[in-house]
Amino acid sequence: MKDNNSKTDLLAIDDIGDKLGDLIEWAIRIKNDSDAAFDFKPLEGMTIGSIYEKPSTRTRVSFETGVHRLGGQPITLLSSDIQLGKSESIADTASVLSRYMDCITYRCFGHEDVVELAKGAEVPVINALSDLHHPCQAAADMMTIIENKSGLNGHVSWVGDGNNVLHDLVLGCAILGFDVKYATPEGFEPDDGIMSRAKAIAQSAGSSISGTNDPIEAVSEASVVYTDVFVSMGEEHMGGKMDSFSGFQVNEELVSNSDREYLFMHCLPAHRGEEVTDGVMDSENSVVFDQAENRMWAQMSILTYLCNRAAWETYWELR
Ligand code: CP
Ligand code: NVA
Repeated sequence: MKDNNSKTDLLAIDDIGDKLGDLIEWAIRIKNDSDAAFDFKPLEGMTIGSIYEKPSTRTRVSFETGVHRLGGQPITLLSSDIQLGKSESIADTASVLSRYMDCITYRCFGHEDVVELAKGAEVPVINALSDLHHPCQAAADMMTIIENKSGLNGHVSWVGDGNNVLHDLVLGCAILGFDVKYATPEGFEPDDGIMSRAKAIAQSAGSSISGTNDPIEAVSEASVVYTDVFVSMGEEHMGGKMDSFSGFQVNEELVSNSDREYLFMHCLPAHRGEEVTDGVMDSENSVVFDQAENRMWAQMSILTYLCNRAAWETYWELR
């Protein structure tokens, strides 16, 4: 049986706190390493399970390929195929999977479900997206910003819904000391408790976080312009939600207010013509496919750190 007290879970990006910068630097090193790096197999003999209650392209494929590159065995479990939520509780599922697996990733609807899985599991649990948090996305996003903007002059801006991706983007920026200005329509602001958490972190890092309902105010002179779908998975029943987002599309006119060298970011999948135009998505400023690639490298760092700390540290010292 594994020692429950020694495990670390990643349910929100601030769970790894000040270590975020090093985890990203490690990911950048392995990404830029020669092919020889792939003799490095810190997950050899380990099995990493991933449970999905919602569809996924990037998260699923980047976890499967990342685990494979690190020498581990990925197992993907679609919720439609397993007993979870039908004839078995989250707690019992957590106990059972802990007997086979070395780490579990979980994409769920309510954030409380991944908290419960982590509580019941004897192995590290990684949130692969819940309604409140998307920490793996934030890790890849911070990596993409650092790769493309070594000295971020302006702030990171957000235009859109106050959702899971925004929550961890703001927390990640707070940890790394980046200023953030987010614009959401009235009634679609981010979670107050999470923003208070982020502001407390930002205060000690000397950065600022502010919210507005005015997209132009958010993007003016911004170094990064980020958006996401207006209606997230699980919200499809909120039929009228889209009506509140008039004026929140990231288009050529809106980004003309930003720094000329701004980065356009989107976690994807994008609904082209809704929250963003083709012109912005396909512009030279767009780094959306770098973000998608970096999901794999950032998660390789996180998995190695959570499952084989000694190997993570050895690689850190040698490279
Ligand atoms: N960005 C992201 O999490 O994409 P998927 O839903 O395809 O995993
Ligand atoms: N906010 C979106 C992100 C998808 C990666 C959702 O939760 O559906």
